[in-house]
Amino acid sequence: MSASIEVRGNVALITMSNPPVNGLSLAVRQGVAAAIDQAMADPAVEAVVLTGAGKAFSGGADIREFGSPKAVAEPNLLSLISLIEGASKPVVAAVHSVCMGGGLELALGCHYRVAAPGTQVALPEVKLGLVPGAGGTQRLPRVIGVENALNMIVSGEPVKSEMLAMIPGQTLFQQIIDGDLIEGAIAYAKEVAAKRPLPKVRDAKASHPEADAYFQFARNTVKAMAKNFPAPAKCVDCVEASVSKRFDEGMVYEREVFTALMFTPECKALRHAFFGERAASKIPDVPEDTPKREIAKVGVIGAGTMGGGIAMNFLNAGVPVVMLEMKQEALDRGIGVIRKNYESQVKRGKLKADKYEGRMALLSTTLSYDDLKDADLIIEAVFEEMGVKEKVFNALDAVAKPGAILASNTSTLDVDKIASFTKRPQDVVGMHFFSPANVMKLLEVVRGKATAKDVLATVMGVAKKIRKTAVVSGVCDGFIGNRMIEQYSRQAGFLLEEGCTPAQVDKAVEKFGFAMGPFRMGDLAGNDIGWAIRKRRYVDKPGLRYSKTADLLCEMGRYGQKTGAGWYDYQAGKRDAIPSAVVVKMIEDHRKELGITPRKISDEEIVHRLVYALVNEGAHILEEGIASKASDIDMVYLTGYGFPLWRGGPMNYADQKGLFNVVQAMKRFGQNPLDDAKFWQPAPLLAKLAAEGKSFS
Ligand code: NAI
Repeated sequence: MSASIEVRGNVALITMSNPPVNGLSLAVRQGVAAAIDQAMADPAVEAVVLTGAGKAFSGGADIREFGSPKAVAEPNLLSLISLIEGASKPVVAAVHSVCMGGGLELALGCHYRVAAPGTQVALPEVKLGLVPGAGGTQRLPRVIGVENALNMIVSGEPVKSEMLAMIPGQTLFQQIIDGDLIEGAIAYAKEVAAKRPLPKVRDAKASHPEADAYFQFARNTVKAMAKNFPAPAKCVDCVEASVSKRFDEGMVYEREVFTALMFTPECKALRHAFFGERAASKIPDVPEDTPKREIAKVGVIGAGTMGGGIAMNFLNAGVPVVMLEMKQEALDRGIGVIRKNYESQVKRGKLKADKYEGRMALLSTTLSYDDLKDADLIIEAVFEEMGVKEKVFNALDAVAKPGAILASNTSTLDVDKIASFTKRPQDVVGMHFFSPANVMKLLEVVRGKATAKDVLATVMGVAKKIRKTAVVSGVCDGFIGNRMIEQYSRQAGFLLEEGCTPAQVDKAVEKFGFAMGPFRMGDLAGNDIGWAIRKRRYVDKPGLRYSKTADLLCEMGRYGQKTGAGWYDYQAGKRDAIPSAVVVKMIEDHRKELGITPRKISDEEIVHRLVYALVNEGAHILEEGIASKASDIDMVYLTGYGFPLWRGGPMNYADQKGLFNVVQAMKRFGQNPLDDAKFWQPAPLLAKLAAEGKSFS
């Protein structure tokens, strides 16, 4: 049973049990309903305490039942709350640890609530593009006031129980219980057992002295903050209904809004991302109970752009790091950058000074491989050249202890080849961080042919510890993210040749929602990086056409922000991209050389050529098994490439557009003689799904 009942004296203790967070599954709802019925029928019982076993009161809906008939089967949450609210004996919710979403709505349906201090209380539905759907928007304002409730509902952020209990006049918690919660709750239940009438939150009034002005203000603020998401504004509407409508009408309104939001593309995208993140951590052939290796000390080789950021991740998580370089100057420079980074966090109030010192104390440096012999995980971030990687892995193979995991941060090189430089390819894996490595959420975990399952399981665990979204990729040039971005960049280049300016392309892509268009991105990352990669790649693919404008730009020394000029001009010390007449002229001259008459290109064409280029390459990647599911590709783009969250990633965007329509657009692009007709052949998987009327998910 997912809820148990135990009678202690004249109080029935009902305990929900559905690890890990007592999600309100059908079985839990049935169990609680049956236990409530039993308690009401038992003449010995005068009051009820409802609580959750283990690490939560309840985290809300059981996400494992999301979208299944079980999620809405009776007793649904609304029915269960009605049952409890209408019970003839007092029901006291004893909340602790986590009381969120439906869990809080359930507690609000009880007659009384007592809480352990430190309980995280929240209505996080907005984060999935929804409003609370079981009375949260109607009951919470009635117990903590309109403004406090609206703040919680619009942000979805948790607030500690003891903070909520300090709100003047609040009736959310009748007691904060410091000692044994259950004993305290039972004592409280005995105290109120005979009191009548039973208090119901629905009978209280939600009010605001300046309701109209306040809700107008709230609406304006929310619109400005969340312009691409409809749910926050709807939260305001629902809370306003708690003031302007009778309780039952407010409930009907909340339900209508909830149901309508479920079908919005933004809500679908947010749910896709939520489940995608969880799915990414599961590797089909690596069971979750695979034993993990212990990672108590980490080695980082190379103290450059990436090495420093990678080290910071581990220092932040309390894991000692030893950093190796070729020369003392390089080490000093690297450490200086880390220090500066932390100091700026201290200055901005993001990090306490003593914590900063604590983190630096975990960092040691060396010029000798001998000092890596007790490291459990060693990540190299040296120059992107196979010869250099070979030397490093030879050296590591000689000193690393047996069982140490040897990882490469390479962005493009063959991890299997790198593994072959050692006598322990099973211990070698790619850990592809994104720049800045201490900030970006994405970690591509590159699985080599020989990578052991426990190495993968360990690295996925490490990723969690350092708070990254890890996505497993097979070995190929560029892995998932950079292999796809190559096609996106090629299209961006063709668009310049055909008539666009860099600013026009960037603007269209940014309007679509990307954090940055391809050319501003190039200037930030350094155009020379792509140049070096193209030099290597296009030697192997002589027939493949790409626009040479980016090469011409680099030949002019315009590497981007770091050289003060790239696709755009930059004023000294500033990052604002100023359209460059020199670059526009260079593009025009190049067009003339190619004999191209420029044409006007719509924003829609720009966006779809770039995004569908990602989709088509993504489909190839799926088909080849480089990614094991479409949602993994979306997670790469949402967490590493600034793809707009409300569009759910490229594959989800294509699904929502309809794959038939995507394929039709690709066929049109393929007819453009200045584009690459061969590339626009839909990937066989995409063509098949489109023909069958299916989607990637
Ligand atoms: P970087 O040039 O900033 O740093 C490389 C560092 O490695 C230098 O400090 C250099 O002195 C050191 N180094 C070179 N050979 C060495 C050796 N044999 N032993 C010890 N230290 C050595 O380069 P960056 O940008 O940090 O890139 C490093 C790796 O990370 C490359 O494989 C790159 O492809 C990859 N990467 C880079 C990203 C970026 O945005 N910069 C993003 C993701 C991966």
